[in-house]
Parts: sequence; C-alpha cells; structure tokens
Amino acid sequence: MGQIHILKGDITTAKVDAIVNAANSRMLGGGGVDGAIHRAAGPKLLAECQKVAQVNCVRCPTGEARITTAGNLHANYVIHTVGPIYNVDKAPREHLKNAYENSFKLALEHDCKSIAFPAISCGVYMYPHQEACEIALSIALEYVNRLDIYFYLFDEPLFDVYEKTYQQLVGQ
Ligand code: APR
Repeated sequence: MGQIHILKGDITTAKVDAIVNAANSRMLGGGGVDGAIHRAAGPKLLAECQKVAQVNCVRCPTGEARITTAGNLHANYVIHTVGPIYNVDKAPREHLKNAYENSFKLALEHDCKSIAFPAISCGVYMYPHQEACEIALSIALEYVNRLDIYFYLFDEPLFDVYEKTYQQLVGQ
C-alpha cells in the first residue's frame, strides 16, 4: 500500500525509482522541468533519449510515455511523457489523463515501487492548474495501492492548489 506525498521542491532531488519528465515529442530536452532533469541527469540521458525510436522526429506522441535510464539522477528510470499544449490540443483532458496513466503503467511494468511527477503541462503548455491537478490526483488515487507517489511542485501557488485539492478528494 503506497501513499501520495505532495511536496514543494525540485523533482531532480527525488529519491524514487522513477522520475517523470514533462517532455516534448522530440525528447531532446527543453526548458522547465525537462531542462532541469537533463541538466541533473547529465548527457547520458540525452544519449538514451536519442536511442528511442522516432517517426518524423516524434519519439513520444502527446499522451504517451517512454522510459529510459536516469543518468546521474538518484532514480533508476526517467519516464518521459508529453502533456497537451492547452490552447492547441483538440482533446487536452484526454491527453493529460493518458500522460499520467501511461507513466504509471510504464512504472509498474518496470517493477517501480515509487514514482515522482511534476505538474505536467502546467508550465509552458499552459494547462489551467486546478483542472490539471484534479486529473493528476484522481488518477494517482487509482494507483496508490501499488506505488508510493510523489508530486513535486515548483512554486507555492501550485503547491497550495495540490494540497487543497488533495484534502477535498480524500475528504479530510
Ligand atoms: N522540479 C519540479 N517542477 C519543476 C521544475 C523542477 N526542477 N522546473 C519546473 N517545474 C515545474 C514548472 O514550474 C511547472 O509547474 O514543472 C511544471 C511543468 O512546466 P514545464 O516544465 O514548462 O512543462 P510543460 O508545461 O509540460 O511544457 C513542456 O516545456 O520544457 C519544455 O521541453 C519541454 O516542450 C516541453 C514543454
């Protein structure tokens, strides 16, 4: 039986089996949490990403997830998932749900006992924070019996949204 932990901090410090990266479809790094994870993991992570099969430069379509080793990070794996770009995506809710679901499925397929998520799509991809948080936590509650789940929020306002929403969902 796992637990859900809501933390304010840098996900690259997470001591878990799998760290989830909010990547883009090319999986060659970027800004935000993607940039932080690649910086902390070192060049080996990029080399691993470049080995992932691609079709027309797309290694990970929106809503899907890919797993690599984790370079210098404490974790055993990085799970790269691509969230929806809110104002562009035709089915942002569906794609964000898929991004979380597919990340959990990959973690379980690789016998992970713990996983850390950033707030996928809540930065550059502009997903409204409250709705994105509700999606993340609702899906996490379906997997908490099999994994210890950590949500790393990088700023106070988003941390507060997660804390409040979690309390509402679990009725405390
Ligand atoms: N640890 C935890 N969370 C972080 C960190 C960090 N070190 N750095 C940033 N964040 C937070 C942001 O504050 C935001 O709340 O991660 C959340 C997701 O923001 P982005 O990193 O911008 O990710 P996203 O909105 O999914 O956009 C993905 O951005 O970096 C590029 O290559 C990436 O093209 C992709 C796009």
